[in-house]
Amino acid sequence: MTASLSPRPVRLLAISGSARQGSLNRQLVDLAARKAQALGAQVTHVDLRELAMPVYDDDWAAANGKPAGAVALRALFAEHDGLLLSCPEYNALPTPLLINSFDWLSTVQAQDGLPSGGGATAGKPVGLLAASPGALGGIRALPIVRTYLSTNFAMVVVPEQLALPHADQQLDALSGEVVLKKPELDQVLDKVVASVIRQAAWRLAAA
Ligand SMILES: Cc1cc2nc3c(=O)[nH]c(=O)nc-3n(C[C@H](O)[C@H](O)[C@H](O)COP(=O)(O)O)c2cc1C
Repeated sequence: MTASLSPRPVRLLAISGSARQGSLNRQLVDLAARKAQALGAQVTHVDLRELAMPVYDDDWAAANGKPAGAVALRALFAEHDGLLLSCPEYNALPTPLLINSFDWLSTVQAQDGLPSGGGATAGKPVGLLAASPGALGGIRALPIVRTYLSTNFAMVVVPEQLALPHADQQLDALSGEVVLKKPELDQVLDKVVASVIRQAAWRLAAA
């Protein structure tokens, strides 16, 4: 799919809005990443916790500059063509980890030939996923993530999305690899991934 449209393989970031051990959202986005790789994309997994950004604080920034993790995230976006993102909802909102990381990213200015944080995300496609042990699957936060990423970050949020309810029962480990038990949900995930790759490939081909 990618080779026929774009001059090089599509490069995607895979980010989970939860960094805890055993995160259901990490498992879901890792599955999406494997599907993207099967379609010819190259995927870089990003652990937001490893980027170690403090809670957003202008005074902290005045004293210390931008956190190295925010600058690293800007570089990652500059080097990649799109994003696969799975984020749980905390009280119907996206997680503080996700919002904090992207708020910091939005403050990184263009420097040394690299775009600003917002410039690095602009125009790039993102596929939204959510997983929760609850019955709603995290779907209430997805419109908020959609608005957040499509406004100041100017990302192209693809229409297809997957919120996975009862994710603790729907994700299954087969031969060490996590799969979705329900084929109809697996097909939705396929559509999200294919849509992101298609958008990214079109963008690359037009560049
Ligand atoms: C502070 C907090 C608020 C939560 N609020 C919701 C919620 O509104 N809806 C929901 O489905 N799950 C909620 N949960 C449960 C999470 O969906 C659950 O912990 C999930 O496993 C988190 O994703 P992870 O497995 O990727 O870490 C909440 C969890 C926490 C810690």
